[in-house]
Amino acid sequence: MGFILKDLIGVVLLFVVSLVARLLSVVRLIFPPGKKSVSGEIALITGAGSGLGRGMALSFARLGATIVAWDINEEANEATVQMIRQEGGKAFGFVCDCSKRDDIYRVAQKVKSSVGHVTILINNAGIVTGRKFLDCPDDLIQKTMDINTNAHFWTTKAFLPHMVEQNHGHLVSIASAAGFAGMSGLADYCTSKFGAVGFADSIRHEVKQHGIHVTCVCPTYINTGMFTGAELR
Ligand SMILES: NC(=O)c1ccc[n+]([C@@H]2O[C@H](COP(=O)([O-])OP(=O)(O)OC[C@H]3O[C@@H](n4cnc5c(N)ncnc54)[C@H](O)[C@@H]3O)[C@@H](O)[C@H]2O)c1
Repeated sequence: MGFILKDLIGVVLLFVVSLVARLLSVVRLIFPPGKKSVSGEIALITGAGSGLGRGMALSFARLGATIVAWDINEEANEATVQMIRQEGGKAFGFVCDCSKRDDIYRVAQKVKSSVGHVTILINNAGIVTGRKFLDCPDDLIQKTMDINTNAHFWTTKAFLPHMVEQNHGHLVSIASAAGFAGMSGLADYCTSKFGAVGFADSIRHEVKQHGIHVTCVCPTYINTGMFTGAELR
């Protein structure tokens, strides 16, 4: 009997907490919090050579942040760096294969010694194979997990300690709506994005006490070329 009562209280509490959370999000929608200044911050963006990564690099630079651009594609990454410099912004490019933990740690060390400590980390690099699960080669499934999920662990391990020391920093995860719902032909991609969402939601609780913010971005389809041929109803 006591057990049932405890369960019942738990359910009622859950209902009340979720109601309050929903009300708070409506209030935040009507009265959004002020915009954060990124001027003077060092923002590292993975996958900065194209699409969202390049767009964010240009936007953050225009807002006064120093950009550390990472991409596996040296030419595309350098093009982003040059675009920023031509506009009078500050940017530094590094070739990094985010599917490889050792490469992430090696390049992170180079960034720390040549540019400084990263205060905004944007995990954006991502790939999609877009094949039915049984048609998807093992190595591509592995790579999807390595870039879309595991890289978030290694970049965070590399740059979070200094943020914690300074009680200042921001972790950003470019996940996806595919991190909330499964889709046919995207089993590996959805799994990797569920992982990215799970990591962001968990690390948020660990770093909150250090004044470090976590933002998890979950876009639907954006016409960057990544999902060429895909159609949304
Ligand atoms: N485009 C969309 O519709 C969409 C929707 C939801 C989420 N997203 C996510 O947004 C992020 C950016 O997507 P996008 O549309 O700009 O894609 P994009 O293909 O235009 O850019 C991805 C970038 O990541 C780089 N990259 C790939 N593998 C890498 C590696 N091993 N190491 C380092 N860099 C690597 C690529 O060279 C490229 O510059 C991805 O994580 C993607 O999953 C995209």
